Amino acid sequence: MAEANIVLTGFMGTGKTTIGRAVAEGLERRFVDLDDVIAERAGKSVSEIFEQDGEPTFRAAEARLCQEMREPAGLVVAAGGGAVVDPVNRDALAASGMMVCLDADPETIVRRLAGQTGRPLLSGSDRPARIAELLAQRAGAYEAIPRHLQTSQLSVGAAAERVMGMAIDLPAGGHRLRLKTMPETADRNKATLQPSSPLPPYDILIAEGLIAQVGRRLLAAGLAPGRCAVVTNPTVAEYHAGGLVASLRACGFEPEVYEVPDGEAHKTLATAAQLYDRFAASKLARGELVLAIGGGVIGDLAGFVAATWLRGVPFVQVPTTLLSMVDASMGGKVGVDLPSGKNLVGAFKQPALVLSDPALLASLRAAEFRSGLAEVLKSAIIGAPDLFEQLAGDGPPSLVSMIADAARVKVRLVERDPFESGDRAWLNLGHTFGHALELYSDFTLRHGEAVALGMIAAAELSAGLGRCEAALPGRVRQATGRLDLPQAYSFEIDRVIELMGTDKKRAGRTLRFVIPLKIGEVTLVQDISHEAVRAALATIRR
Ligand SMILES: NC(=O)c1ccc[n+]([C@@H]2O[C@H](COP(=O)([O-])OP(=O)(O)OC[C@H]3O[C@@H](n4cnc5c(N)ncnc54)[C@H](O)[C@@H]3O)[C@@H](O)[C@H]2O)c1
Ligand SMILES: [Zn+2]
Repeated sequence: MAEANIVLTGFMGTGKTTIGRAVAEGLERRFVDLDDVIAERAGKSVSEIFEQDGEPTFRAAEARLCQEMREPAGLVVAAGGGAVVDPVNRDALAASGMMVCLDADPETIVRRLAGQTGRPLLSGSDRPARIAELLAQRAGAYEAIPRHLQTSQLSVGAAAERVMGMAIDLPAGGHRLRLKTMPETADRNKATLQPSSPLPPYDILIAEGLIAQVGRRLLAAGLAPGRCAVVTNPTVAEYHAGGLVASLRACGFEPEVYEVPDGEAHKTLATAAQLYDRFAASKLARGELVLAIGGGVIGDLAGFVAATWLRGVPFVQVPTTLLSMVDASMGGKVGVDLPSGKNLVGAFKQPALVLSDPALLASLRAAEFRSGLAEVLKSAIIGAPDLFEQLAGDGPPSLVSMIADAARVKVRLVERDPFESGDRAWLNLGHTFGHALELYSDFTLRHGEAVALGMIAAAELSAGLGRCEAALPGRVRQATGRLDLPQAYSFEIDRVIELMGTDKKRAGRTLRFVIPLKIGEVTLVQDISHEAVRAALATIRR
């Protein structure tokens, strides 16, 4: 198949044609201006078509041409700003490759168009007013295009470079997941007056070597270069901040690194407050980006700060632990702990982009990696049976594919249930038992180890309730063994049951458990008798 097209669109005067030509030259591709094609076919200029045949004739020809342009053909295409107002045209052009909407300030547009004739839509005496009116009419259509490039301050060459950066391919073997979700303001209590429309989807990119592309990837996601607050901790910074900062600088970002101390103990309001103070000191402004590079602790904390600083600034996740690559970095749950419990204060803040580079895991301690494998196994049991077979057998074909398969399960659940009112709770598989065991051990058990034990207990509970075949718990046990995760632990059953009662995720007063029905299918059960829970716990007690 031919390479994807690069389609530039946007209002008059935003530079579609000049920038498009420069991109085509830079990439040695053919350049096609849709207006020129229409004029050539009609044997007269666009102005003449408007004058002699009327705008509807022009629009009809344009619509036909857009349909012809559906297929990737390795072209650089300039599409008139009027063409993409119709979603049918827009979708057809977008299907052929990457579409970028060029933007410019009204003043810049007026200046760039000064003295130009042959602009049929700008006839009349008050051009600035006409431009403002058309811009307002088309704002919604332009907003629907995920990628934008502001060209007011850019030379043609610089703008072309940005577009070329947006078009780069993922490193070989990489995966691209997309997550569609609802805005944070979509009211879960249904008190909003207007139905909320979904947010533009965001990409979750998983590829070895991605860290070197971070700058370009941000541009590709439509984030404007400028100042960027990089939130991390000293452990992660030592290994990975250098590469990240270089990649950001190379694309015109001005990263400033903010370190907070390492560890869950610092995922607090106090640490958030320190970040606010430091952002205030450096005058981090609205629209300037917060980028988290670290594990789930950094992601949750930085995301919470990004959600609340100036009532929300754009946020990007660069997860560096296995747990955060397959779970914490996606789905928009951010927050901090209180002395009275974990994650009690938070928000839904969807990142603009998640960039997972498995190469970063090389520096992770083995025990942390293993702990993350428990969450991979969890995803497999919930919704990726093939991945489960790989984990229980010879292992997945690659780290990248393992992460992508596990992440995909979470993406599907988040899309179905962005605010965790239903099926997203499935992600708690093994966690009701697991949290209690973690507490019981006074955190000498790692989260992943406790969750692994919890998943075995959940499978045993399911079997005890007659909800799955009797062999299932054995298969889960076997997989945890394969991953070097514990299969038994020494504890007091009654104490652990007591501790389960203090889980904040409990709805009402009955205990709820996610249990597997088979590999790849789970369900939520409640009103489970203490006897059944005791019996399940007894099977993981040493
Ligand atoms: N938001 C969500 O949906 C969600 C989901 C699951 C978990 N979480 C949260 O995630 C947190 C746990 O995350 P975690 O397991 O990633 O722990 P973590 O962030 O504490 O990271 C574990 C340790 O590894 C270090 N580290 C991270 N990346 C490294 C790297 N590449 N090389 C070397 N060292 C590295 C960290 O500095 C830390 O010491 C918890 O606070 C939990 O509440 C959130
Ligand atoms: Zn977990």
